[in-house]
Amino acid sequence: MSGKFYARFSVRNDDNSDSYLRQAHRRMELHNDGTYVKEKTDWVIMQKILELNVEGGGSLLLHLDDWEELEKFHSHPVAKEDIQWGSPSSKNIDYKTSHPIFIEKDGDLPIISFIDQFAEPANMTQGLYLYELGESLERESNTYNIKLNEGSMLIINNYFWLHGRDKFFANKDLHRELLRQRGVFI
Ligand SMILES: [Fe+2]
Repeated sequence: MSGKFYARFSVRNDDNSDSYLRQAHRRMELHNDGTYVKEKTDWVIMQKILELNVEGGGSLLLHLDDWEELEKFHSHPVAKEDIQWGSPSSKNIDYKTSHPIFIEKDGDLPIISFIDQFAEPANMTQGLYLYELGESLERESNTYNIKLNEGSMLIINNYFWLHGRDKFFANKDLHRELLRQRGVFI
């Protein structure tokens, strides 16, 4: 999506891209968008244009306030340390960025910017923290699994809501078309 206002893409049964989003048979773990770019990403619109022969693949959503172990990870010494973030070539971002997992200003309620796939921990302490945080999110029972109908959209505040996607059941004719838009509040 870099340099554009939107991205349109397909999910099919077979895929050899470097994008987890397009790999149908893996669960795309809970994350925030824009983690590895310098610009802010306050909101995300996720639209489903087309869906054929799809079983599974529900949209996963977790509000930060519903995460049972939020305080454990928010109060951890690594929570406010800078983490380095990189991205694969398909993202067309030729730099790395760094910021903490929890990005609110002092005294504000927590907001989060996290994606397991693109974190580049500098040491074992950061690595273990990131691993355990990801495991905690994935076992959270307050995560919604929503079936989004064709022609519908989800609009989320990107720093309050973590999102992901459940895996699909294999079907050689599986086809899903999606549209993404992201932006900032001004
Ligand atoms: Fe995403």
